[in-house]
Amino acid sequence: MNVLGIESSCDETSAAVVRDGVSILSNVVASQADLHARYGGVVPEVASRMHVEQILPVISDALAAADCDFASIDALAVTNRPGLLGALLVGVTAGKALAFALRRPVVGIHHLEGHIYSVALAAPEILASLPVLVLIVSGGHTQIVRMDGHGAYALLGRTRDDAAGEAFDKGARLLGLPYPGGPNLARLADTGDPARVPFPRAMLGDSLDFSFSGVKTALRSFLAREEGDTPPADLAASYQAAIVSVLSEKLKRAARATGVRTVAVAGGVAANAALGRALRAMADEEGLRLVVPPRDLCTDNAAMIASAGFFRLEGGAVPSLDFDTFATETLGSPAGAQAG
Ligand code: KG4
Ligand code: ZN
Repeated sequence: MNVLGIESSCDETSAAVVRDGVSILSNVVASQADLHARYGGVVPEVASRMHVEQILPVISDALAAADCDFASIDALAVTNRPGLLGALLVGVTAGKALAFALRRPVVGIHHLEGHIYSVALAAPEILASLPVLVLIVSGGHTQIVRMDGHGAYALLGRTRDDAAGEAFDKGARLLGLPYPGGPNLARLADTGDPARVPFPRAMLGDSLDFSFSGVKTALRSFLAREEGDTPPADLAASYQAAIVSVLSEKLKRAARATGVRTVAVAGGVAANAALGRALRAMADEEGLRLVVPPRDLCTDNAAMIASAGFFRLEGGAVPSLDFDTFATETLGSPAGAQAG
């Protein structure tokens, strides 16, 4: 079954064709990062307008790259929550219109569920040995989710303030680095000393929750105090190390607490090389299996949405054109698995 996926929740317009949930035929992403750079962050109204301009060419490109036409699309899946409402509406409207015209089923997908399926795309065999713990680290979200089955997610921990990507972006801004901050801070950190400044690591007792506002404040106070003699690369490396060590430690604690032996990371921050190294070291020490999807599947893309859509339909979801868009919605129930 060929599923056409559509993603437009933030500043990437993406369309992809995925066969049988795990085989990527195409995954086209049009990023608006350059456009938002001059404002230092995503401007929702500008994002919506760009999605309107990009959505049809991106869908055409995805079909062409997959060597498909509309007739060979069996179903559609589109991100409908959470995200910028105006941005989501563009993808959802396109998805519904195509589904209606082609007489194909369409399903609305939770963006974070999509990120979880980037792990399935990278290592389909894990689906045969669930559960898996997924650390989702993006610009808007930071959480640890246990995936027990398709559509069955338990939320084990989440950030109480900033998301990890947000912490990277805000730290980058404090260091005077251009948007998008995360990758720029990571690049600067490459040549720095991560042990130079001992920025705080908020562990929050036994909780699997996260808090990143303290480390951001610590960087701001440090910059206000010091005379400019700490090399920026050392500051970036130390700041990154504080974020990365908390993420890795919490995933380790979650694995110990649940006994789950497979762990994975997803979302834009999963592209961070220092995080990848820390998780690899932690997984080796703990004897865990670790999945880190390739960079193009970590950041926002429609292949992960198509994959989630395939398994939703295969699981018997009754498709309908009657679904809405939502700016916020939590994935997974703190009490345990829930059907989603
Ligand atoms: O998942 P994503 O593409 O979009 C959201 O759903 O938010 O994640 C974007 C976030 C941004 O905060 C960006 O700065 C961060 O991921 N990011 C990185 C890196 N690449 C992207 N953060 C640290 N290091 C990176 N290499
Ligand atoms: Zn995302």
